Amino acid sequence: MTRHFIDLTDAGSANLRLMLEAARTRKDARKGSPKGTVDADAPLAGHTLAMIFEKNSTRTRVSFDMAMRQLGGSTIVMDAGSMQLGRGETIADTARVLSRYVDAIMIRTDDHQKIVDLARYADVPVINGLTDHSHPCQIMADMLTIIEHKGGLGGAWAWLGDGNNVLHSIVEAGALLGFPVRIGCPEGYDPDEGVIAEARSRGGQIELLRDPRAVVRGADVVVTDTWISMGQAHAEEKLAAMMPFQVTKELMAQAAPGAVFLHCLPAHRGEEVADAVMDGPQSLIWDEAENRLHAQKAVLLWCFGKI
Ligand code: CP
Ligand code: NVA
Repeated sequence: MTRHFIDLTDAGSANLRLMLEAARTRKDARKGSPKGTVDADAPLAGHTLAMIFEKNSTRTRVSFDMAMRQLGGSTIVMDAGSMQLGRGETIADTARVLSRYVDAIMIRTDDHQKIVDLARYADVPVINGLTDHSHPCQIMADMLTIIEHKGGLGGAWAWLGDGNNVLHSIVEAGALLGFPVRIGCPEGYDPDEGVIAEARSRGGQIELLRDPRAVVRGADVVVTDTWISMGQAHAEEKLAAMMPFQVTKELMAQAAPGAVFLHCLPAHRGEEVADAVMDGPQSLIWDEAENRLHAQKAVLLWCFGKI
């Protein structure tokens, strides 16, 4: 069966653990090598990944490209607007055609249904590079970062801000890999109820709170993201509602000793997070960004049946 990586639940907890382990081993093995050198075993030599972007990207674009290079493969990067997809060719026909040329497809799209359809009609693995619903590759990198710094996934992860795509993948990860997730969103901006219900049905410990201090209290990991995601209209009302959930030094002080801060980036400094936290001693954001590369190498290897 073709291995797609659309959501963390597709792979299941055992495979996620294998991927995280492989990401660490491979990252360690190439320490000190120039970034463009191919890993000694070149496991994806001869393989090509096509990437489709319907939305902007810096990290996802470059980290997937470098991941394929380091694994010995290559990429074709396309903005949807310059493809026939942008003129109305269906996702199903796009899937059928690309499957004849390339070995895997990564897509960043606004509409989660598009990636579901792409996977349905493609004969090659399809990877989620962010949809309006989820961002599983980001959370693989986040988990890798926490494992590196804490030797495990830690205790509670606290989320502050918008109930968005990144949060949905954290909720899934918590349920699959056994860490509690405490969520602090202003009323009206909660995550998808279906995602929460599904995670709870898997035994996930998910709490929704309105008091940002209670959310963060005793947490090992504090996470936030932009208050206005790509594709959403700028709304002053939303920004005002979010303000009490800004991650500040004072709020970080409520977290457990040794707590760390994550942000998928790009950040809106002074909105969801204060500079003092972004640039402070608890922030792991640059390691987190680097780990997109290492985590995605493992995701690619899993999709290609090499893990
Ligand atoms: N975190 C993340 O996905 O970044 P980009 O939007 O730059 O890809
Ligand atoms: N929630 C953000 C994540 C960006 C990486 C967005 O969808 O725009």
